[in-house]
Amino acid sequence: MTTIRQDGARADAVVRSAYQRSVAAYWNAERDPVNLRLGEVDGIFHHHYGVGDYDPAVLDVPEARHDEAIITELHRLENAQADLLLDHVGPIRADDRLLDAGSGRGGTSFMAHQRFGCAIDGVTISEAQVEFANAQAEQYGVAGQVRFHYRNMLDTGLAASSYQVIWTNETTMYVDLGELFGEFARLLPNGGRYVCITGCYNDLTGGRSKAVSQIDQHYTCNIHSRSAYFKAMAATDFVPITVVDLTYDTIPYWELRAHSPVATGIEDAFLTAYREGSFHYLLIAADYAGG
Ligand SMILES: C[S@@+](CC[C@H](N)C(=O)[O-])C[C@H]1O[C@@H](n2cnc3c(N)ncnc32)[C@H](O)[C@@H]1O
Repeated sequence: MTTIRQDGARADAVVRSAYQRSVAAYWNAERDPVNLRLGEVDGIFHHHYGVGDYDPAVLDVPEARHDEAIITELHRLENAQADLLLDHVGPIRADDRLLDAGSGRGGTSFMAHQRFGCAIDGVTISEAQVEFANAQAEQYGVAGQVRFHYRNMLDTGLAASSYQVIWTNETTMYVDLGELFGEFARLLPNGGRYVCITGCYNDLTGGRSKAVSQIDQHYTCNIHSRSAYFKAMAATDFVPITVVDLTYDTIPYWELRAHSPVATGIEDAFLTAYREGSFHYLLIAADYAGG
């Protein structure tokens, strides 16, 4: 049976494969303390990792406040990651529209609205996330400007050339890059900006390492190689302007998380993959040269 959702989206038109159904089911069921307890610190909920050094003083906080101090510090690092992404979107005018592709519980979108004051749309294939993030937009009094939609980022159905900026914050490992950048090329005008933060495996030193495969399995994702990003961008007229290797900047987050009360068991795989050089954490900003 086809279910018609409130915004008119048909479930079978949004989630089109068994793989996408399993990704949607994962995010619909997700209630992980590493996301929820960190989000509760200031009401900004993320599903991504952090960058920057942690304050070593948090390790010496007395036991009664120890967990709370570590969780607050981890959240500071994940907010810093979203701030860094937003530093690369270029100049924004009040009447621009920005698209958060794979928007999770909306954290990066709310930070973008706070910073730029313009309209933001988020799309995700998790209906639970859409409901959560739209309720937050109501609560923060920005529902007219920040909206979340049950849509597939590979085929959004949104108007052509209607976004000045699109970002993906740790979402590209769930999709085919050629299809994704093809859709973004449709949504951006000539000169529009795309910004991405992602993990990618290092295909200069061989294939997918055991640690990278463990990460794939843990998150039901398919991490792409480093070169796959640049090939797919070149094929769709995206021209990189900034590439930042964040690998060493993200290791402290994983070290702190490994010793936190919200560790999930995947921390060692990330630390091994980053330290052995089989995995990179990259920020890529690119301009769309087609259209
Ligand atoms: C790791 S979370 C990142 C969420 C958010 N960007 C953040 O930084 O907090 C991955 C997100 O990608 C979304 N996603 C995966 N495949 C998608 C698709 N084909 N279309 C839209 N969203 C998708 C998931 O529903 C989830 O919201």
